[in-house]
Amino acid sequence: MEQISLIINGMPVIADSGTSILKAAGDNGIRIPTLCHHPHLEPAGACRLCIVEDEKSGRIMASCVTPVVSGLSVQTDSEALRRHRTNIVRLLLANHPESCIVCNKGNRCELRLLAAELGIGVTGLYRMPHYMKLEEANPFIIRDLTKCILCGKCIRADHELVAVGAIDYNGRGLRSRPATAHETPLEKSSCTFCGTCVSMCPTGALLAKNAHYAGSPQREALTICGFCGVGCSLVIGSADGRIVEVNPSHSDGTVNRSTLCLRGHFAHDFLNAPERLTVPLIRREDGLTRTTWEEALDLVAERLLSIKSRYGPQSIALLGSSKCTNEENYLFQKLARVGLATNNVDNGAALSGRPVWGRLEERLGGGGRVKTLSELEQAEVILVLGADPTQSSPVLGYHLRRASRIRRTPVIVVDPRRTDLIPFSALWLPLNPNSDSTLIHALASKLLMEGYYDRDFIGRFTAGFEEYRESLSSLDLEKVSRATGLKVKAIDQAAGLLAGKKIAFVIGHGIALQRDGFQAMDAIINLALMTGSLGDSGGGFYGIARENNEAGAWDMGTVPDALPGRQALSDSTVRKHWERAWHCRLSPDPGLSLVNMILEAEKGNLKALYVMGENPVRALSGSPRIGGALKNLEFLVVQDILENETSRLADVVLPGAAFAEKGGSFTNMEGRIQSFEAALPRPGEAKTDWEILNLLGERMGSPDPYRSIQQVRSEIASLVPGYLDLAGSHGTGWVKETSRSRLFSAEGEGGMIAFSSYAPFLFESPPEGYPYQAILGSPRGHLGSGTRTAASARIRDYAPEGAVEMSLEDGASLGIQEGETVTLASPYGTIRRSLVLTEGIRPGLLYVPRAVHGNDATSLVPFVIPSGAGTPGTNVVPVKIERGPGL
Ligand code: SF4
Ligand code: SF4
Ligand code: SF4
Ligand code: FES
Repeated sequence: MEQISLIINGMPVIADSGTSILKAAGDNGIRIPTLCHHPHLEPAGACRLCIVEDEKSGRIMASCVTPVVSGLSVQTDSEALRRHRTNIVRLLLANHPESCIVCNKGNRCELRLLAAELGIGVTGLYRMPHYMKLEEANPFIIRDLTKCILCGKCIRADHELVAVGAIDYNGRGLRSRPATAHETPLEKSSCTFCGTCVSMCPTGALLAKNAHYAGSPQREALTICGFCGVGCSLVIGSADGRIVEVNPSHSDGTVNRSTLCLRGHFAHDFLNAPERLTVPLIRREDGLTRTTWEEALDLVAERLLSIKSRYGPQSIALLGSSKCTNEENYLFQKLARVGLATNNVDNGAALSGRPVWGRLEERLGGGGRVKTLSELEQAEVILVLGADPTQSSPVLGYHLRRASRIRRTPVIVVDPRRTDLIPFSALWLPLNPNSDSTLIHALASKLLMEGYYDRDFIGRFTAGFEEYRESLSSLDLEKVSRATGLKVKAIDQAAGLLAGKKIAFVIGHGIALQRDGFQAMDAIINLALMTGSLGDSGGGFYGIARENNEAGAWDMGTVPDALPGRQALSDSTVRKHWERAWHCRLSPDPGLSLVNMILEAEKGNLKALYVMGENPVRALSGSPRIGGALKNLEFLVVQDILENETSRLADVVLPGAAFAEKGGSFTNMEGRIQSFEAALPRPGEAKTDWEILNLLGERMGSPDPYRSIQQVRSEIASLVPGYLDLAGSHGTGWVKETSRSRLFSAEGEGGMIAFSSYAPFLFESPPEGYPYQAILGSPRGHLGSGTRTAASARIRDYAPEGAVEMSLEDGASLGIQEGETVTLASPYGTIRRSLVLTEGIRPGLLYVPRAVHGNDATSLVPFVIPSGAGTPGTNVVPVKIERGPGL
């Protein structure tokens, strides 16, 4: 890039051609005041506060929209500039209401700070505030547009960063304001309440709404969002130790930069919820009662050890958490394997389809999921399979929408239901549920026939291509069309969009939880290998992680069949390595998965369960059944942050610290490992999970307890592949194992990556009497089973309904009206919900939101972890429907 030399305030400066004067000045430590500028937005030149003066011509220009020119010499702070800036700010203040003293923006208002900097007390101008109605009906955002200075940052954030387009300018001149279409309230507009505009607003015109007057934050601290697997970086503002505000960190290099989503921005009020556990509890005759940490921990250690000696190590299981930190998960599984000699250890991410994700690990040698989200915006074509990212992982959704709207990347969405991503797609393939593998094989077959495959990649890195090609020759497109419900023309169109391109695959739980998830994943991997869509920028896999530390809990070995580093427990060499590291003998017995723990508890074989940071009674299918199994135990320990359906059954409850109240690290869906420190104090007597586990380990005979979390990190860094830098990381973290040699064992240690052959998938007819298929999904406001989000007062106010969606045609044929209560029954259970009729779903399909109503939707699904062929799926279930409250 051409380098330009110029002079700023008498100082020689070199900048890349095309750089604005504002940026060139900032890069050289020269601050120019701004109000409408943000480095992550396109410059607008709206406020004119960033003016600089050309020393030769005396011309005054807005530095944010003026590029550097060779030989230019500018002043950023002359007498004339100060006069102009003072006049601009006086005019803005004359148009502003006199409510600064009670404005929640307080000392963070950029207008007020600038006025103070320029020495403006009273404006001396006739006051002309343009009063507008305060808008605060929704639970998230207060719009007080009387305080709007028309900088346009909110509108640009809405258009450029989150690509929603909920707001735009309305009116002219001084009367102009950012508004929704037809000035509808935000809650009736397309606004997703991501709050990105709120974080951008320099004044108090847009503010987060708190249930009670919260005041300005007294302290701000950087941490990582504790909800989904995107792993957004955020800044928590607190006052008197309570969370009052959340904003994105606005840092380059983070996964979210200046954006957040509804949950990240607004649902963290659950940290202040009355359900927070603050003292240890122990079950006595009159129920759970307060106790001391000493008594609680002594009892847990004593009971677990006595159950182990009476019934053997297999009688104890430990359920860890995909929400807890890497350090805590590492200690948790170590407590199980070393302290209690059992591999009965799992975490809640088992419900996210881990066996299907494991297929990627198995076939690609562990590197398949490692892609940064920012690379998506360089993709040539994006194939979204079984994913609704604008609801489940909204910041990933922004990357997709920007790729489509701004980069014009073709996005193909494969989903039976019209998701929010469809308007951004080049093609929507509304296929029949569970037919993804057939469609992907058909696309591969078309591309092969037309010669669109990467011969060089196939030759260098893969094995079994000819057999794969041969197996596809039996595929008949007409049959595919019948099986998938898609027209042959639509399949041709999709193949046309993919032809000759590297494909970025965004894979969601519609694949991982479906009945033929293994086959679908195999077909996707084959297509990726055939098109050489691995390792190159833009191509590759983006597997959605539901919880914030699903990937990390797996990496740390909080799973029954793998030791830390996802190393197979069944491999005796691996076991020997860890036996040397931990100075112990490891049991080779395969551990119980989450579902098997419950089955063994039902049979009376499992005597004790230790649950850390999960709520199986709410998360697993059929709460009464799970509750019954847990009551069958001799001893149940729950270590958690919120009182919940599982903690109420416990013999001992240990209050833990939430993510924002402790230090640690999470590993996100990209494989990015991010460390963080505590942003808030712990409530009451709560302790961090690693401290609790350490104290327990000590009581259970650990010869060498940890002295600090840093010591745990150092042990992980020295023993777990990919975590070498954990000991010293902070902030944006790093993404492990991105090198091509790590991605392709063919270039590294092992052999070639094998194609798997196509075998026609056998479709099962739905069971007699269940004519509909219900698709289960998570609404934007909730996550997982909804234990934490349901404790957010704002979320409770916003989305209490969880209505079932039905097509207009089915509504008409059943004579059902919108808003009616219906009963849905599957072969596994029954729920009651109100109904909405929509064009977004095909006849025969229904959409049921999870997480709401105590997550009752899980009573519709079978009690399994979706895995190989023959295991029923948990994302789509056959149902019948009846009007009114009973079947
Ligand atoms: S609402 Fe705030 S961000 Fe939007 S234009 Fe007004 S002052 Fe700027
Ligand atoms: S909250 Fe998000 S979606 Fe709504 S207007 Fe602001 S930026 Fe747009
Ligand atoms: S996308 Fe996920 S990680 Fe990011 S703010 Fe939302 S919930 Fe948090
Ligand atoms: S910051 Fe340049 S015009 Fe506003």
